[in-house]
Amino acid sequence: MTGAKRVLIAPSILTADFGRLADDVAAAEAGGADVMHLDMMDGHFVPQVSFGPLVLEAVRRATSLPVEIHMMVANPLDQLPSLAEAGADRLIFHLEAAPDPRAGIERTRELGCEVGLAISPPTPASSLEPWLAALDMVTVMLVHPGRGGQELLVDQLPKVGELRRMAEATGTSLVIEVDGGVKAHNASMCVEAGATLLVAGSAVYNNQETPAEAIAGLREAIGRAS
Ligand code: DX5
Ligand code: ZN
Repeated sequence: MTGAKRVLIAPSILTADFGRLADDVAAAEAGGADVMHLDMMDGHFVPQVSFGPLVLEAVRRATSLPVEIHMMVANPLDQLPSLAEAGADRLIFHLEAAPDPRAGIERTRELGCEVGLAISPPTPASSLEPWLAALDMVTVMLVHPGRGGQELLVDQLPKVGELRRMAEATGTSLVIEVDGGVKAHNASMCVEAGATLLVAGSAVYNNQETPAEAIAGLREAIGRAS
């Protein structure tokens, strides 16, 4: 871990209660979340369909936190304008869906949003290297994208360290996000690997504890690691 930079927590709303979404988002904000993470799925890039700009708009109204969209969609370029319009602060699309992401990166910037690229488990960290200098952040998937509540794939964590080293070599201060299966018991491993932004879905929205309790548990866990 480089320096004492604060590690950020981004609750994913995928396992929130969509019947009371604004309350669930407000509870995460009040409980100390740093960013809201929205998982958009189109039924093509991944089998499930989740939501699009309308839900983003509702979340945007419910919080003053930055909102990022993790675009699990087959044609990310088509979706960028409507997501920017709906109030996204950061758009993250998959390298697997845009093998030459240059146009997507440029378009996202033109739309006034931050830009990130995500990689799924089969994709090596090295495939992001040509793009690091042009990005605000990268997302390393620690599960196969498509649904919340899966087990973290420990064998994906070394990619975080690789990306941290690549970014340092080019003098880039890169936000490295990990997404999938992050819980209080494994969050410190993610931070030790070099992650600076932790997505937490079922760890925050579950039936066992409130978002505030869950976020406090994650903070305590990463406090020990940084
Ligand atoms: C998976 C999504 C994740 C997911 C995280 O495809 O990208 O953001 O919602 O949920 P947990 O933390 O439960 O794995
Ligand atoms: Zn996600």
